[in-house]
Amino acid sequence: MSPCGEDWFPMTEQGLLPYPSQVEWHTGSLALSRGLFVVNYLAARSERLESAVERITGQVRRRATAMNDGQPVTLEIDCGEPGQEWPSLGEDESYRLEVTDELVNLRAATEWGVLHGLNTLAQLVTPTGNLPTVLVEDTPRFPWRGLMIDVARHFIGIGVLRRTLDVMACYKLNVLHLHLTDDQAFRLRSRTFPRLASEPSYTSAELAGLVGYAAARGIRVIPELDMPGHSTSWLAAYPEWGNERTEATRRYGVHPGCLDPTSETVYEAIAALLGELDEIFPDRYVHIGGDEVHPAWWSGSESIRAFMRANGLADVVALQAHFNARVTGLVNDLGKVAVGWDEILHPDLTGGVLVQSWRGATARDRVLRQGHDCLVSAGYYLDLCFPADVHYRFDPEADEKALIELEDALTVDPRFEHVGAGMRWTDHWRQKGSSGGSSRGSVIGGEACLWSELVDESVLDARLWSRLPVVAERFWSPAAQRDIEDLYRRFTASLESLRASGLVDVFESSRALLARAGVTDVWMPLVSLLEPVKWYGRLLGEKVLSERLRGTEMPQSRPYDADTPLDRIVDGLLPESFIAREVNELSERVADGDEEAMSVLGDLARSWMLLSARPDCPEELAPLAESLAEVAGIVLDVLQGKTIDESVLQRAGRPHGEYLLAIVPGLSRWLTAPDQ
Ligand code: ACM
Repeated sequence: MSPCGEDWFPMTEQGLLPYPSQVEWHTGSLALSRGLFVVNYLAARSERLESAVERITGQVRRRATAMNDGQPVTLEIDCGEPGQEWPSLGEDESYRLEVTDELVNLRAATEWGVLHGLNTLAQLVTPTGNLPTVLVEDTPRFPWRGLMIDVARHFIGIGVLRRTLDVMACYKLNVLHLHLTDDQAFRLRSRTFPRLASEPSYTSAELAGLVGYAAARGIRVIPELDMPGHSTSWLAAYPEWGNERTEATRRYGVHPGCLDPTSETVYEAIAALLGELDEIFPDRYVHIGGDEVHPAWWSGSESIRAFMRANGLADVVALQAHFNARVTGLVNDLGKVAVGWDEILHPDLTGGVLVQSWRGATARDRVLRQGHDCLVSAGYYLDLCFPADVHYRFDPEADEKALIELEDALTVDPRFEHVGAGMRWTDHWRQKGSSGGSSRGSVIGGEACLWSELVDESVLDARLWSRLPVVAERFWSPAAQRDIEDLYRRFTASLESLRASGLVDVFESSRALLARAGVTDVWMPLVSLLEPVKWYGRLLGEKVLSERLRGTEMPQSRPYDADTPLDRIVDGLLPESFIAREVNELSERVADGDEEAMSVLGDLARSWMLLSARPDCPEELAPLAESLAEVAGIVLDVLQGKTIDESVLQRAGRPHGEYLLAIVPGLSRWLTAPDQ
């Protein structure tokens, strides 16, 4: 199911992702043999470097299948100094990689730079085992290039996390942030509080092993305990930590359960848990959550209101700031720095805290103006099933005005028409004001976030790797790297390399999920044109979504909870249809009068009609097959110069349950152009 067919073959430059800051292509090439490299360590040498060389050569050997039996090529590794045991924020990750027609020279000040250079080297090898002669001088734009995985809503096993780290290293990502706790589950087996752990959960030994595995790849692992909200799982196990009782939950959405910020027992428990984390995670940063604190429990409690009065705390926001001050103090006592979601921002929040912005484009500048460093995640939520170009267009350091324009553009983008009004939710945060002094904090990087309400181990690869490489480029490459067409070319080539290297096969992974859901090959030409509805469309469900869009939403149940099996066709779809992109490109060529493209598109439309007429359509797909036939009819009419009924296209472009027929927005541009 590679988008470009069997004979597709990546050009050398196409596989580079993230694109290096400087590349000077020379004209020659260097042929590799099956023996690949003989490594000559010119300076520092370490076990970490040796195993990295072994890993990378293994990948290259699997990918480049047409090599001869000649002499191995010399790979000189000139590493300034062996690294510390653990990678840490802000170390020199740059490298210089030169391929001549005789040898490869890789120079870096640190082991971390060498690891990145080795990954670039692997990306440069062609499937026929040749290296282009080239000089790469590369350095990351941001020191924090992360991925957050929510392992609470669905447990993600250590084996899958290790594989995820392998692939993160290929894309030069250097932070794995584990969202270990949420309302539905607490995934750390605590020694002090054994009742907390949900089934399944991680032992400290497993997590420590993961941290070591990550460090060997230059990746830091940051744990998150989400508090004081999103803590129903804590409260179900230790009711004395809350000011009301609550039951364990499998439901999604924001829950009212909160830790009691007036209780010394709660701070003692948090101190003990942070101490346990400290034994496992050597990094200086610890995430304390802080998002979406439901006000009901606190504001409804007489004893909490009395505490607020006694401490001069004006509202629950000030009370959360009080809680945060206590918790960040506990983090600081361990010699560490707290990270929190942007709700922790408050005038009383003191220095030394890293704030992760997620609520729209304007949170970042509020963070910076208050003098805190910022980690940007707004624009990089992978669970929203956005097309890759959307993530790519968000730049962590773009002007606030440009970011607001991007957010506004999404609400009228035809691909988001079905949720556009809902996406205006970030307007609410804009009203928090953006006046103030000059920026003092810095953007130190970003994190892509994969919230896992609708992601379990089985669908992770298809969801993650079909988006994350693009965000990885945004965090590593210079801001000027922004050509979308070029990005997609390198992205598809890179996914193919990933497959051939034996790491992850995004397309096969999706195909296997679809087969599990009962899709036979004959229906793939339809299914490969589908995408899941965007934004929170699936999580909210059709009824709540339409009420939210009209502004009349009532609290009510959602279609999914943490026990809903994720085994339907929609769970196997890629967030963006690569085939629909190709169809759109074809229609652009047709619009330009390209006769060959007209003939190909006509054949395609006829094949869609034939497919849709088959009697064995899976029930869930039947309305989509019907719409596909209608769109095919319109394509054929336009190719024959007939006029069309545009309302048919509008209908076909609306969600069909949880599905979108992804060809419609692109085809509509051509089909409804004034000169058709
Ligand atoms: C978040 O998405 N609740 C941080």
